[in-house]
Amino acid sequence: MTDMSFGGPWTKEKLEILERYLDAYTTALKNQPFHLIYVDAFAGEGSWRPNTPYASEDYGDFEEIRDGSSRIALKIEDKPFDRFVFIEKDLSRCESLRELQQEFPHRSIEINNEDANEALISFCDTLENHERAVVFLDPFATQVSWESVARLAGTKKADCWILFPLSAIARQMPRNQDPPDAWAANLDRVFGGRNYWRDLYRTSPQLSMFGDEPGLERPGGSGRIADNYRVRLEEVFEQVAPTRRIFRNSRNSPMFELFFAASNPRGAPIAITIADHILKHW
Ligand SMILES: C[S@@+](CC[C@H](N)C(=O)[O-])C[C@H]1O[C@@H](n2cnc3c(N)ncnc32)[C@H](O)[C@@H]1O
Repeated sequence: MTDMSFGGPWTKEKLEILERYLDAYTTALKNQPFHLIYVDAFAGEGSWRPNTPYASEDYGDFEEIRDGSSRIALKIEDKPFDRFVFIEKDLSRCESLRELQQEFPHRSIEINNEDANEALISFCDTLENHERAVVFLDPFATQVSWESVARLAGTKKADCWILFPLSAIARQMPRNQDPPDAWAANLDRVFGGRNYWRDLYRTSPQLSMFGDEPGLERPGGSGRIADNYRVRLEEVFEQVAPTRRIFRNSRNSPMFELFFAASNPRGAPIAITIADHILKHW
C-alpha cells in the first residue's frame, strides 16, 4: 500500500454515499438485461487512511485502514457489476489495484495506468447499446476536463458521480482581478469554455490595480461557482440530482461539491430518485 492517507470525515461520507448508491442501483437494475460497468476514473489503490488532525475526534479507530471506492464497488454482492474499469495514473497505486484484483478472482477487472481524461474518452467510444455504466470521478483537484464529462453525458449510457473541486477552482479565480493566463486556461478546460466561469466576474466600482481602468470583482462565495458548473451539467445530462452535498474542511470552508448526473433518458428518473434520496438522507 502506498501512503494513501487523505481526506477526513467527509471522505468517509463521500464513500458511504457511493456505496449506498451502487448497492441500490445494481439492485434496481437486477432484472434488466443490461451489462453493468463500474468505472473508477481516479481509482486510488483500494483503501485509504484518514489523516486530518481533527479526524481523531471523529474516528475512534483513527488508524484503521478503510475501503476505498474500488474495493467498495467490488464488494457489491447482491447484483455485482459485470465489469470494473479502474483508471489510475500512479503506477504504484496500480500495483496495489492489481493486488486487489487477486482478491476478487471472479470479477472482470481492467486496470488502466493512464490519465483519466484520455482513458474516459476511449471508454466512451467503446460503450455498447446493452451496456450501462456508473462512473465515479473522484479527483484530488481540477483534473477532470469538461470534454470527458460531456463525452460521458453524450453516451446516454453513463451516470456520473462528480466530485467538483470547489476550493481548488475558487483559488484560481482571484476576487479582484482576472486569473493569470495559466489559471484561465485551466478553468476553460474544467468548464469547457471561458464564458462559463468568466460571467462570475463583473466590473467593480473600484479602479483596477493600475488605476487607469475599471477594476473587476467576483462577488459571492464558491456556491456561485458550483451553480455555474451545475448549469453546465444540466446542459449535457438528462438530469442532475437536485440535492446539494458540500464537503467542508475543519474550518468549515467548502472543499468539494458532490454532483450526481444521469444521461440515459429512460434510466435517469430512477437513477436520480435513488441518488437524490441518498444525498438527502446520508
Ligand atoms: C482522491 S484519490 C482517489 C481515491 C479513491 N477514489 C478511493 O476512494 O480510494 C485521487 C486519485 O487520482 C489519481 N490521479 C491523479 N491525477 C490523475 C489523472 N490525471 N488520471 C488518473 N488518475 C489520477 C491519484 O493518483 C489518486 O490515486
